Amino acid sequence: MRLAGILGWGYHVPDHVLTNHDLAQMVDTSDDWIIARTGIRERRIAATTEATSDLATRAAEMALAQAQIAPSDIDLIIVATVTPDMAFPSTACLVQSNIGAFNAAAFDLSAACSGFIYGLKLAQSLVATGAIDNCLLIGAETLSRIVDFMDRSTCVLFGDGAGAVVIGPSQQHTLQTIIVGADGSGGHILRQPAGGSRNPATQETVALRQHFIHMDGQEVFKFAVSKVPEAAEGLLAKIGLQVEDIDWFIPHQANKRIIDAVIKRLGLSPQQTIVNLHKYGNVSNASIPIALAEAAAAGVFQSGERILLAGFGGGLTWGTGLLQW
Ligand code: UT7
Repeated sequence: MRLAGILGWGYHVPDHVLTNHDLAQMVDTSDDWIIARTGIRERRIAATTEATSDLATRAAEMALAQAQIAPSDIDLIIVATVTPDMAFPSTACLVQSNIGAFNAAAFDLSAACSGFIYGLKLAQSLVATGAIDNCLLIGAETLSRIVDFMDRSTCVLFGDGAGAVVIGPSQQHTLQTIIVGADGSGGHILRQPAGGSRNPATQETVALRQHFIHMDGQEVFKFAVSKVPEAAEGLLAKIGLQVEDIDWFIPHQANKRIIDAVIKRLGLSPQQTIVNLHKYGNVSNASIPIALAEAAAAGVFQSGERILLAGFGGGLTWGTGLLQW
């Protein structure tokens, strides 16, 4: 088995900034409430002409340039998203065409906010076994298209953006153990009720606003603050490491209070935790790769340092993994 590593990284966020003050003009909320309860100050919103594949393409081009890999050398494109351009063709196929990666197979991965970690697990396995050489893994979202801007309990949380990595055989920036899991019995607490085969689009589903994100925020909160530390502790125990062996932590950027509770329970410090949700809000599948790419581009990680990743989301799903830079 060969080692799989991150050869290049990139991200792209739309230009338009939607601040908490802007949202306070739209629903009964305030900058103070949003900052105190979530830590979010602003988020990016895609232009009406932009879809998920456009953001994904920009992030992918940056990652390929950084990796110095030609699009024709990519064997597989995975786009982790809950906001594909459409059900089919997959967003990954649209990206393949945009970047000219015509030797690549392409598909979308649906595991809600944990999708990027699921994708890492898959890419690592395929590269390690020699089934493929280079995988382009992208987390990309235009959540603003499925957010109900009349629902203050959800519309303040989410934003748009994309992050990408190229994964291939490498001794550097290596993917170590990655663990993913799911508990489908909790699917109802975070979902988009209509638009699929259960509730196809009708005038009624539109009138009932069922094509938007519906969430029991408190239940998701409770799930996250118990499952993420449990999964991370399980990962460390499995590979015989202590929390002191971890240099950096990149959690899914959903809520600062969730991140604070998780690091407190794990015994990690705020100084070693990468947080960017004040700028972008929760970008679901894109949140971890944007945070990773931003920090990597800023030169935060030193060679050999260990980076713990942890995601959670609808499904319910979760995933945690270890990178060695
Ligand atoms: O990728 C995973 C996606 N989801 C998540 O990670 C969400 C996890 N959950 C959360 O982040 C939090 O539960 C929220 C930020 C969604 C809500 O925070 P909370 O501290 O759990 O608030 P709450 O739901 O208990 O609501 C407290 C109060 C309620 O008013 P009353 O009933 O006490 O009068 C809400 O109606 O805050 C009210 N409220 C708001 N007030 C101002 C809810 N949303 C807002 C808002 N502005 N935007």
